[in-house]
Amino acid sequence: MANNLLKGKRGIIFGALDENSIAWKTALKVKEEGGVFTLTNAPIAMRLGKINELAKECNAEVIPADATSEADLANLFTKSQEVLGGKIDFVLHSIGMSPNIRKEKPYGDLNYEWFQKTLDISALSFHKVLQTAEKLDALNEWASVLALSYIAAQRSYPDYTDMAQAKAMLESIARSYGARYAKLKKVRVNTISQSPTRTTAGSGISGFDVFFDFANMMSPLGNASAEDCAAYIAVMFSDFTRMVTMQNLMHDGGFSASGITEEIVERLSK
Ligand SMILES: NC(=O)c1ccc[n+]([C@@H]2O[C@H](COP(=O)([O-])OP(=O)(O)OC[C@H]3O[C@@H](n4cnc5c(N)ncnc54)[C@H](O)[C@@H]3O)[C@@H](O)[C@H]2O)c1
Repeated sequence: MANNLLKGKRGIIFGALDENSIAWKTALKVKEEGGVFTLTNAPIAMRLGKINELAKECNAEVIPADATSEADLANLFTKSQEVLGGKIDFVLHSIGMSPNIRKEKPYGDLNYEWFQKTLDISALSFHKVLQTAEKLDALNEWASVLALSYIAAQRSYPDYTDMAQAKAMLESIARSYGARYAKLKKVRVNTISQSPTRTTAGSGISGFDVFFDFANMMSPLGNASAEDCAAYIAVMFSDFTRMVTMQNLMHDGGFSASGITEEIVERLSK
């Protein structure tokens, strides 16, 4: 059911790798709601992933950018404005990667060069996106900028290792830049803390299936799917949420507010 929530709005969507990606579902939802956008991903992901299929479906141009490169980001914002015909109204940062998780390094044996890469790709890149947009004056007033987070920013999860620190930093950047950009141009900046979701990044965490099932049992509504997340993102990009900024928004079926649920009691009583 489309409502034209994003009619007349222009945006940039980072991070669609394949059809499971949250960014992929978001692109489809935003298109359905009448928004136009460019798609972007790291050059290497472009070769491995299927972004061109999505671009065709969405009638969108693909502009490669490594989100850690200020030069790539400047090119992305400049070209996106040219292609879309004006300043940008919404940006989705849907990017996460930890070399330490990829190489299965335990928390007591992290490689610090990789740790810095994790922070650069998964958190600092959000600051770079915002700073580039500000320097180029690429955003319209009331633009909405979102990044995706996870509750490991607030609570410990074994095997999430250095991504927990990256998510804490990501949420902090949303608050600090949100305050600045609100004053400068009424731009709002938020993070959405999403349930575990079966994607390439999600399934890369060892033990993912167990904490997916645990979260599902601990969430009165169950885990939020990637499609649910895309719908929430569309609302956050719309004019119906204009006064929401500097927040970490829980999109988790009630997980973060639950002490214990009947499902867990039942399971542990057996
Ligand atoms: N899947 C989950 O369980 C879950 C839960 C909460 C939050 N998130 C977050 O959602 C976001 C999207 O992840 P996803 O689950 O859709 O997985 P995904 O693997 O489909 O997406 C991650 C994306 O990050 C991109 N990326 C990596 N390095 C990059 C770089 N240097 N420059 C530009 N892009 C780069 C990848 O190419 C990929 O497209 C991430 O921030 C992730 O941490 C995921």
